[in-house]
Amino acid sequence: MSIPSFGVGTFRLSGQTVIDSVTNALECGYRAIDTAQVYDNESEVGLAVSQSGIDRNELFLTTKIWVDNYSKDKLIPSLKESLDKLKTDYVDLTLIHWPVPDGEISLKEYMESLLEAKEQGLTKQIGISNFNIELTKQAIDVVGNNVIATNQIELSPYLQNRKLTAFLKSQNIHVTSYMTLAYGKVLQDPVLTAIANKHNATTAQVALAWALKLGYSVIPSSTKRENLASNLLARELNLDNDDMSAIYNLESNGRIVSPDKLSPIWDE
Ligand SMILES: NC(=O)c1ccc[n+]([C@@H]2O[C@H](COP(=O)([O-])OP(=O)(O)OC[C@H]3O[C@@H](n4cnc5c(N)ncnc54)[C@H](OP(=O)(O)O)[C@@H]3O)[C@@H](O)[C@H]2O)c1
Repeated sequence: MSIPSFGVGTFRLSGQTVIDSVTNALECGYRAIDTAQVYDNESEVGLAVSQSGIDRNELFLTTKIWVDNYSKDKLIPSLKESLDKLKTDYVDLTLIHWPVPDGEISLKEYMESLLEAKEQGLTKQIGISNFNIELTKQAIDVVGNNVIATNQIELSPYLQNRKLTAFLKSQNIHVTSYMTLAYGKVLQDPVLTAIANKHNATTAQVALAWALKLGYSVIPSSTKRENLASNLLARELNLDNDDMSAIYNLESNGRIVSPDKLSPIWDE
């Protein structure tokens, strides 16, 4: 199992904006793209990808199953619809978008269907998103060990999720950090800005390099080509131990995304 360390996100982007963002990202050297059924932009992502002319096997496409499609009779057909929109025969990674702990459809039912989708070759890898420790354990019980490739979770300098990431590491489940920039909130942070000045880098690069150094994948989004290009350069920024400890101390339980009914009880 392997997940690229750097990808581009597409949440909130639609129409020509997402076509331009993905096109710019691919031109800047990104090869992994994160979308979701609920973003309602899979067709535009598919268009940008096909127009790029880049070989399918060089790309890593992730989509996420939306909660309306969790039942046994809907999950696989909905993924096939996603593949049509993305103009591809398979995605590299399919995630369960939210656990919906008290929903009508059981975790067992949707995890079994997700595994079946993998067995049918519709997705190379499967994973989860926004799962806490308890629900991750339940998901492992359904599909087995070393099958869940990643848990994609909100994780930024302000929300470091130390308990959950330690558990995921113990289970060999890769961590993908979403909203590593806390949707722009960390960009004004004085500690991150001082570290950025020290390395002649940007504050965004510091936050991204911090997550990369911890071994997490990142998927920052941007509508601006210059931000897409400079974010990617975070891969070349090597933070030192002093930088990492200063960022460690920025933890402030700064969760931004926690929709009612879909979210689990978060691990503190
Ligand atoms: N699994 C889930 O439930 C879930 C939830 C949320 C997000 N995600 C995924 O994670 C991706 C990333 O999250 P996100 O897009 O919400 O937030 P984000 O990546 O933390 O932040 C994006 C924001 O930061 C700005 N930005 C990016 N690079 C910048 C730079 N170098 N300098 C200044 N501003 C910069 C962008 O503005 P500009 O456009 O102006 O650059 C945009 O407003 C999403 O697109 C989505 O694919 C997944």
